[in-house]
Amino acid sequence: MTRPESLLERYRAFLARPEELFPITLGEGGTPLLKASRLGAELGLDELYLKYEGTSPTGSFKDRGMVLAVNRAASAGARAVVCASTGNTAASAAAYAAAAGLPCFVILPAGKVARGKLAQALVAGARLVMVDGNFDQALTAVRHLGEERAAAVVNSVNPDRLEGQQTAAWEVCDALGRAPDALGLPVGNAGNITAYWRGFSRYADEGLTDSRPRMLGFQADGAAPIVRGEAVPEPETVATAIRIGNPASWAGATAARDESGGSIESVSDDEILAAQREIAQLEGVFCEPASAAGVAGVRKLAREGRVHRSETVVCVLTGHGLKDPDAIGAEEGTLTPVAPDVDAIRAAMGM
Ligand code: F0G
Repeated sequence: MTRPESLLERYRAFLARPEELFPITLGEGGTPLLKASRLGAELGLDELYLKYEGTSPTGSFKDRGMVLAVNRAASAGARAVVCASTGNTAASAAAYAAAAGLPCFVILPAGKVARGKLAQALVAGARLVMVDGNFDQALTAVRHLGEERAAAVVNSVNPDRLEGQQTAAWEVCDALGRAPDALGLPVGNAGNITAYWRGFSRYADEGLTDSRPRMLGFQADGAAPIVRGEAVPEPETVATAIRIGNPASWAGATAARDESGGSIESVSDDEILAAQREIAQLEGVFCEPASAAGVAGVRKLAREGRVHRSETVVCVLTGHGLKDPDAIGAEEGTLTPVAPDVDAIRAAMGM
């Protein structure tokens, strides 16, 4: 059997430095672009697609940049890697560091990291440090550790991360045979929107596409610093992945918004959770709450006539729903046991 070409080898011409090798891979990239006909009909869009990053090795888009960052850290002789994280970066760093044989330290906001993400970091042997504070404070501390050269920082302040994350934009264009008209996605630390825009711009500059999409970014109402135009000292949202009050790539996000003629707006926790269920119930795709923010936002813009029926729209589902099972509330009644006989079961089924 031939091994499938790795993500970094596939896009080597755009990424690699001369002679650069990428020995570490977990099979990242190559995530599906799903035509969402039923969800599209609900939103009033004929050409809606979901870029489902939940099929990545650690279940989120973070693997695209982490694979490049850890390959480079390892080949540069790093002795350890460190990151601050709302969970997914930690899970990804832990996995790639394990594959590279490097110790990994993850600095996390106590009580605000989804259970699946914690399990991923733990099982891979990462050393967890919980802070009695939020992600922004954890990242500030990690940047200091990086300056002291205690360990290689693999947050998106490391340029290798955003470089690798451009591959998602390239995959979208390769799958569609063109650039979409609009791209909807969640915004937290704002690295991903920055990387997508760079990726789309690179493809256009290379003449591989003849247009670039409007970038439509969405924050949660309680964690919307870019929308408000000022840092939020105590961000709060059910979408813990994007519970961020002072994004590191703020300038990159506003550049993506302004250069593309797009927008960065916010959606409520209720809208996020409703979109998460809608995506699962209409398309069979389970994403985590933060990931649903893009769909919740595009729904709103479509209703306001700011995204049009005939446009090709891609929403990025950044992470797998199983990472955060606690975000799904039980339906009243369905978890109450009945007698194990057909009459009781038929009655419970409402038939
Ligand atoms: N969606 C998910 C599932 C995420 O985990 C994140 C960020 C985002 C969206 C936002 O992307 O930060 O590039 O704007 N998670 C980071 C982490 C902060 O630590 O895992 P962004």
